[in-house]
Amino acid sequence: MQFKKIAVLMVFITFLYNCDSPNPEKTKPQIIPMPAQMESTKGEFVLDQSVGMSFDSNLKVSATFLKEFIEKGSAIQLRQNNKISFIQDDTISNDEGYQLTITPKQIEIRAKTDQGAFYAVQSLRQLLPVDLENGTFYMENITIPCVTITDSPQFKHRGMHLDVGRHFFSVDFIKKYIDALAMLKMNTFHWHLTEDQGWRIEIKKYPKLQEVAAFREQTLIGSYNADPQQFDGKRYGGFYTQEEIKDVVAYAQNRHVTIIPEIEMPGHAQAAISAYPELGCTGEQIKVAETWGVFDHIFCSKDETFEFLENVLDEVLELFPSKYIHIGGDEAPKTHWENCPNCQQRIKEEGLKDEHELQNYFITRIEKYLNGKGRQIIGWDEILEGGLAPNATVMSWRGTQGAIEAAKQHHNVIMTPTSHCYFDYKQSDNEDEPLANSGGFLPLEKVYSFNPIPEELTEEESQYVLGAQGNVWTEYVPNEKQVEYMVFPRILAMSEVLWTPTNNKNYADFIARVEHFHQRLDALEINYANHLYEVEGEVTSTGYKLTSIIENKTIRYTTDGTEPSLTSEIYSGAIPINTDLVIKAAIFNSDKKLGATFTQPINYHKALGKKININVQPSKTYAGSGADGLINGITGSDTRINDKEWLGFDGEDLEITIDLGEEMEINSIETRFYEAPWMWIYAPKVIEFGIDQHGINSKAEIPESTGTHTVVKIKLNETTRYIHLRIPNFGLIPEGKPGAGHQPWTFIDEIIVN
Ligand code: ACM
Ligand code: ZN
Repeated sequence: MQFKKIAVLMVFITFLYNCDSPNPEKTKPQIIPMPAQMESTKGEFVLDQSVGMSFDSNLKVSATFLKEFIEKGSAIQLRQNNKISFIQDDTISNDEGYQLTITPKQIEIRAKTDQGAFYAVQSLRQLLPVDLENGTFYMENITIPCVTITDSPQFKHRGMHLDVGRHFFSVDFIKKYIDALAMLKMNTFHWHLTEDQGWRIEIKKYPKLQEVAAFREQTLIGSYNADPQQFDGKRYGGFYTQEEIKDVVAYAQNRHVTIIPEIEMPGHAQAAISAYPELGCTGEQIKVAETWGVFDHIFCSKDETFEFLENVLDEVLELFPSKYIHIGGDEAPKTHWENCPNCQQRIKEEGLKDEHELQNYFITRIEKYLNGKGRQIIGWDEILEGGLAPNATVMSWRGTQGAIEAAKQHHNVIMTPTSHCYFDYKQSDNEDEPLANSGGFLPLEKVYSFNPIPEELTEEESQYVLGAQGNVWTEYVPNEKQVEYMVFPRILAMSEVLWTPTNNKNYADFIARVEHFHQRLDALEINYANHLYEVEGEVTSTGYKLTSIIENKTIRYTTDGTEPSLTSEIYSGAIPINTDLVIKAAIFNSDKKLGATFTQPINYHKALGKKININVQPSKTYAGSGADGLINGITGSDTRINDKEWLGFDGEDLEITIDLGEEMEINSIETRFYEAPWMWIYAPKVIEFGIDQHGINSKAEIPESTGTHTVVKIKLNETTRYIHLRIPNFGLIPEGKPGAGHQPWTFIDEIIVN
């Protein structure tokens, strides 16, 4: 009862406040990530030539940042007075927390540390006109609405990763990337510096890393799965000199961003081995990789390799003051170790069980070396295989299982599951979306919904979750504009996942702030993806329903395949489906179309919207829109299995019954299976079928596929209410194919009954 009284009181206070302020919505600050507590107050602060700044000496970095931001961005020069004051306040409990109070008389920033004050400055920055971002603010003063913000982050590790191995990006761009992290209160940049396709950090002791390992002769173009693969024939590469790295590290320090360098071992080492073949098991001269994937040439476990790696790390430690050094550990095939006399001898001498324990030996030996120099290691979740190095932090990427295991063993973890954190995946279904890593799909809303704490962990265990980060692998990201496209706006969602208390998160409100933030990104010349003005659709029991991500916008549509325009019908409720349709829709304001056209052909057929039952559930990851999606008139994507249409079954035999509701004459049943042997996906060899009470009594053989889909059409001439299908799994994957000897997946979509 006590609680209820408080709730009533709060509503009353809010009401009073709303009466006071003529238009609180208009002045509501639009900050990303949303602060923990924020209250708009009466009045405005005017920033003009009379304003000065003072700061406690240990808040200098943040004070300097604000001074430069204002003075470079506008004609205003700050004096020395207390109108803007930075006060060190030890009563603020979180090192990264701050209090920002803007009243008509002054702006006060309180923080325990310079980092906390820096985040106050980033909030204040978002209350200032975007023209300050690029120095085009020409007015004499800036009016800032009054507000009180009390803020601190939810997670300690708030990061972004960037792979500069597959593609290489300039120092200027790396600084721009760090600027973006800092603006969003992210504190860690994970710089993935070595790869099969290129070694990107100057190591003075090993000049061939620069001369050989930093360049490849050519690069795969287009999809990895193309047959045959295409190459551009152009030499490609580059590396960062140690001077450049020192400059970047200092730049990041001035923005409270820690750089964690990653030196991959024992896998993803083909470039290094191409420069120094003796570091591999075979000693063979190989090339820097020109295509993507996982390669068998990994570092050998002989002493000479450790000597090389320790020498490399010595130079790395000189450049990077971070507590953590990332040593990779992922995707290291053991084929060469299995056949290498040196590695086999190591296994024997150390009393190891197998090559997985050898991987543990490898990582633990490097950990010991780095611990001896006062540093800690981070590794991808494969470092759990064969036992975890004693002090390692695990970066969980293949789902959350690695994180769960590590946290239960009381190891720190950083969350980067592909499901929510892989920014190299496509973010929209739109056909003009650029080529991206195959199969993955990560729209903005999914990033926003991420909870870094796996639900399997107890409260005590969840203390080991340091935070999360977005990963940007660059196989399909050839230039800097494309990096920005993949990163923005998903980084905005990730920043809020990591900073904002869950009860302050609201997707609709976030989306409105993202739309507002576009202006700032424009001013910063950041090439963000804009999918806010896209329309989405789904078949419902009442017809075809259209929605948009952003609320309060007009959707106009056509059903005859013509482009929607300002005179097209305004969408106001589900569109009835009683014939074949091509729905085209887009968002409009009063004078123009805002986003891309959404197109959805609907194939009207006799089973559409009827009852369907399947004997087993599809896999959780590939559940499409459930069994109903098989008879919704919409065909699954040609290129992507995790859309709303395809259903994926992990090895099961399927029995499907469709109830048409009444007897009907049917002439054909048609369906489609996905084929992707490299992902263990096979069409069945046969479909068995039958009608009404007769049960299953016929069979259609399916010819062996050669493409990416198999379409099966069964001709009939029957009157029936029920259709039964039995679809046995393909059976064990044949020798010589990926996953040989395992049961493959079956992917099915749309059962078309005519
Ligand atoms: C990874 O994506 N191989 C860590
Ligand atoms: Zn070896």
